[in-house]
Amino acid sequence: MRVSVIGLGRLGLVHAAALASLGHRVVGIETNTERVGKILDGTLEIHEPGLADLVRSALTDGTLDVTSQPSTAMGARVHFLTVGTPELAFHEGFNAGYLESALRSLVPFLQPGDLVVGKSTVPPGTAVALAAQLHRESPDAELAWNPEFLAEGTAVRDTLAPQRLIYGVSSQEAAGRLDEVYQPILDTGTHRVITDLATAELVKLATNAFLATKISFINTIAQLAATSGADALQTAQLLGTDTRIGASHLNPGLGYGGGCLPKDTRGLAYYAQHAGAMEAAQFFAQVDIINTVQRQHIAEWVIAQLLERQGSQVAILGASFKADTDDTRESPSIALAHVLISAGLRVRIADPVVVASCGADSRLEFVRTAEEAMREADVTLVATAWPEYRHLNPEALLPTVRRPLIVDTRHCLDSENWRNASWDYRSMFNLPLH
Ligand code: UDX
Repeated sequence: MRVSVIGLGRLGLVHAAALASLGHRVVGIETNTERVGKILDGTLEIHEPGLADLVRSALTDGTLDVTSQPSTAMGARVHFLTVGTPELAFHEGFNAGYLESALRSLVPFLQPGDLVVGKSTVPPGTAVALAAQLHRESPDAELAWNPEFLAEGTAVRDTLAPQRLIYGVSSQEAAGRLDEVYQPILDTGTHRVITDLATAELVKLATNAFLATKISFINTIAQLAATSGADALQTAQLLGTDTRIGASHLNPGLGYGGGCLPKDTRGLAYYAQHAGAMEAAQFFAQVDIINTVQRQHIAEWVIAQLLERQGSQVAILGASFKADTDDTRESPSIALAHVLISAGLRVRIADPVVVASCGADSRLEFVRTAEEAMREADVTLVATAWPEYRHLNPEALLPTVRRPLIVDTRHCLDSENWRNASWDYRSMFNLPLH
C-alpha cells in the first residue's frame, strides 16, 4: 500500500522506515530541508540502534522516498501524522500547532476515502478537534488515532514488534485500512484493540504518566529504605517480582528525562488543572517535583563535599537522558551539571555519542571518554547507564583522579570491584538525605 508519513523526527523516521521494511511504498515528508538532505545522505541526525541500516536499505530498494513537498502525499491511502507536540513555555501544556498545520498542508492532496492517522502524543480532546478540522476541510477523508509506544534505544524493535496495536477509529473501514498497514505485524499474533479517538489518545499520555509515576514512586521508597536501613535496590527488585507491579521502570536513581515522560506528566497535570480536577493536577505535579528533587539532592551533596576546594572538578559520566540514545532533552545529567557549574565547580561530562547539547551551559566541557572526564576529578558521578561504564578499570583510574570518590546514580557499576580497588563507591541512596 502507498502511505505517507508527515514529520521525520525520532518517531516519524522510524515509523516510515519500518513501514517500508514491511513492504509498503512510503513517502516521508519533512519540512526541514536540512534534515531531508541528511536522511538522503545517510547521515542521520539521531543515534538510534538499527535505524540507519533500515533507512539505507529502504532508500536503496526504492520503498522509501523522502521529500519536503506535501504534494508527494497524493496517491497514498493512509497518511500518518508524526510531528512533534513540544511543551509550551512555562509548562503550559502542549503545542498542537504543528499537528494542525501538518493536517492543513496535507488537505489539498487528500482523495476521497483517505485515512489520516495521528500518532503524536497529545492532550485529551486533540484528536476530536483534529477530526472536526479534517471534516470541515476534507469531508471525504477520515481521522484515526494510533498511538505509538516506542522507547528510544529500542525504537525499531518496538515499532516492528509492538506489545499491541491500538486503533482509535470512528468506522470499521478505518480499522480495516489500519489492519492492511499492519498485516505483517498482526500475522505474528500481535493483539490489536479497537477503541474511540479519545481513549486512544489518553492511553498514550496515561502510559507515560504512569511510567513517570512508577519511577518517582520507587525513588521515594528508595529514600525511605535508606533511612530505615533497608537495601534500596533490593527493595525495588523485590517489588518488581510481584507480577501485579512488574519490574519495568522500577529502577531507582537520578530520575527520568527525555522528550516524553517529563513533558507528558506535566502536560497531564496542566490538562487536569484546566479540567477542574485539582487532585489529579497536584498528583502529577508532585510526580514531577519528586523527579527534579533527585538531582537537586545529589548536587547539594556534591557541593557540600567540595565546599572548601578551590577549582574543584566533577566528572559526569553520561550526558544523554538514558543509554543507547544521543537525546539530551531534559537529561537529568545535564540538569545536574548546570547546578554544579552554577555553584562554581568545573564540570567535565563524557558521553560515547553526545558531543554537545543544545542549551547546555557553555562552561560545560564535553569529552568522549570517561577516562578524560575523570582526569584530576574530585568526584565522579555516573549519570547514564551506558554499558561501557561497566567495563571501566577502577585500578587504572585510581592514580588519575584527585579523589577516588564515585557516586553511581544509575547503579550500573560493580560496587565490589570499585571498593576492592580502594574507591569510595556510593550508591546515591547511601548519601545522607539532607
Ligand atoms: C518513554 C516510554 O517508555 C515510551 O513508551 C514512549 O513512547 C516514550 O517515552 P523513553 O523516553 O525513550 O520512552 O524512555 P524510557 O525507557 O521510558 O526511560 C525514560 C527515563 O526514565 C530515562 O531517563 C530513564 O533513565 C529513566 N528510568 C527508566 C528510570 O529512572 N528508572 C527506570 O526504571 C526506567
